[in-house]
Amino acid sequence: MKKPVIAIDGYSSTGKSSISKIIAQKLGIIHLDTGALYRGVTWFALQNCLNDDGSINLQSLFSSFDEIELEFKNDNGELVLFLNHIDISKAIRTNEVSENVSFVAKQKEVRDFLLQSQRSLAEKGGIIMDGRDIGTVVLPNADYKFFLTASIDERTKRRYQELISLGMEANEQQVKENLIIRDKIDSEREIAPLKQADDAIVIDNTTISKEETIESILSYIKNI
Ligand code: DC
Repeated sequence: MKKPVIAIDGYSSTGKSSISKIIAQKLGIIHLDTGALYRGVTWFALQNCLNDDGSINLQSLFSSFDEIELEFKNDNGELVLFLNHIDISKAIRTNEVSENVSFVAKQKEVRDFLLQSQRSLAEKGGIIMDGRDIGTVVLPNADYKFFLTASIDERTKRRYQELISLGMEANEQQVKENLIIRDKIDSEREIAPLKQADDAIVIDNTTISKEETIESILSYIKNI
């Protein structure tokens, strides 16, 4: 049986990545969290491409793409991102990266830079990719498309708990504001905005658990 290509899009902190990771394990396919790519480029920009006032210098970032080497290491089905041979999985979760990532992700140059590596990972099938534009732009021919949503308060609670569990400092109000701003920038940007694909199945998981969301997604994959 051909292994499926699955696209999971949706709002920040709807559990897309952790849900996708478990589905990948259950189906024996690989998982790519595409948000990590945008976070990785943002992390690089914050290290190397700043203006004197501390803001990101986009021209400097765009002209540095040649110096950014992205590698994916398969850790039990989970594709872990290395940037210039550094495991940046923890560094990309800081508030500083979260506060700047939507600004970086809305740039056409950045999206073009990351598009091909995402597509080529799906060429052989057997992948679940989560992000904002997977069903609409990256993998419009995916076998299955889902769009996750949940209330802002529930998403704030989840993101806050995620940060605390990573040992990071967090303030609920700031977390909420960051989610609202990111959703706004992600949904309103000109290129590849956060948007439900016409053929995506929408799942609102405000009042259902992660396990129930996974069951729901798997039931569609079995049934179609
Ligand atoms: O999923 P996340 O919160 O880690 O994503 C970080 C940011 O990256 C998010 O604000 C929007 C951007 N992103 C995107 O524009 N397109 C994707 N496919 C994935 C993420």
